[in-house]
Amino acid sequence: MRLDVQLGDRAYPILIGTDLLRVTGHLREAIAGKQVLILTDENVAPLYLQAVLAALDGLRTSTVTIAAGEASKTLANAERVFDALAALGAQRNACLIALGGGVVGDLGGFAAALWMRGIDFIQIPTTLLAMVDSSVGGKTAVNLAHGKNLVGAFWQPRRVIADIATLSTLPDREYRAGLAEVVKYGAICDGAFLTWLEDNTNALNDRSTSAIAHAVLRSCQHKAQIVARDERETGERALLNFGHTFGHTLETLGRYQTWLHGEAVAIGMTMAAQLSAHLGMAPQGDAQRLATLLRQFGLPTTASESAHSIVELMRLDKKTLSDVLRLILWRGVGRAEIVENVAPADIIASLQNAANGPAVPASATTLFSRVLD
Ligand SMILES: NC(=O)c1ccc[n+]([C@@H]2O[C@H](COP(=O)([O-])OP(=O)(O)OC[C@H]3O[C@@H](n4cnc5c(N)ncnc54)[C@H](O)[C@@H]3O)[C@@H](O)[C@H]2O)c1
Repeated sequence: MRLDVQLGDRAYPILIGTDLLRVTGHLREAIAGKQVLILTDENVAPLYLQAVLAALDGLRTSTVTIAAGEASKTLANAERVFDALAALGAQRNACLIALGGGVVGDLGGFAAALWMRGIDFIQIPTTLLAMVDSSVGGKTAVNLAHGKNLVGAFWQPRRVIADIATLSTLPDREYRAGLAEVVKYGAICDGAFLTWLEDNTNALNDRSTSAIAHAVLRSCQHKAQIVARDERETGERALLNFGHTFGHTLETLGRYQTWLHGEAVAIGMTMAAQLSAHLGMAPQGDAQRLATLLRQFGLPTTASESAHSIVELMRLDKKTLSDVLRLILWRGVGRAEIVENVAPADIIASLQNAANGPAVPASATTLFSRVLD
């Protein structure tokens, strides 16, 4: 399957299928120059690097393999990539390939945006989250001690190659975390897709290739359309952050150890939906429906952190002294909305009404005190 992201002269295709990595042409035809740097991580390299190198036969290649995980999204690792590009003799027509999850994709895109003021970049996402979210849309970044994703650039890839077969090796928890972002598209803009997800929970839990391919395609279609209309997030693109303000707060409270990003987003979407129902914006039944679907995918929907600590940190994260918060809320299934003036007291009341569930550690030491999506 091929999907085109419509961005004028920076338009690019997303290829979605099985065993795409074995068809060398998919990669080869997108490379203009002779030098290629592959960025990957230590979990992905033993699994898929050889297939990528085989497709690049005859080109001058070099590989940088980083440690797996968020802690690798650093300026120091970007410098490693620059050093490798220099050693490769990479010119302006060189290409950087990110082979892995969102960490590799964000770091690789960041380095590609900066090397010689920007070189070609290809995303080969190997996590579900990266396929449906981080590889599409051109946001790239590294983290600083001051905050997550604080330094970055918008840099669109030349091509995204989402080979569903690579998900067969993805750990269960990572797979389910990706499903949270899939559910998000149904929740914010596509009620029919949410119903399809409800009808296909077993197939997706069993990792049916055809079900995953449909879920990835639909998710990418939505993200591509939104990005094409609002690349720089001056408006509509913010809707993609549904559940993310609550989610980032929970990630921070858990010191990025307790929840994977997708898990925190699942809880965050549930909290945002409950708040919307509390405010009379969305039917209570829709909020329950969303939580039920997330639970059917094995995702958490509650956290035991106190309502006050969540709201306090939300205000800190948003660096707001104002009495109200800007959040992505909900009119019910398929309809998210930016709301500028949410009162903290309403958030607290809504959280306190919601059922308590699995524990989040009480420690509120912030690893990243600021988070940019
Ligand atoms: N740029 C964006 O628009 C955007 C959007 C959402 C998230 N993100 C970023 O994405 C990152 C999270 O991405 P992620 O969830 O993919 O995490 P990740 O890149 O850390 O990958 C998760 C884990 O899965 C392993 N892995 C990857 N593919 C595998 C495979 N096929 N088989 C076995 N193991 C595999 C990785 O080594 C890692 O341990 C965060 O840094 C987040 O900020 C960016």
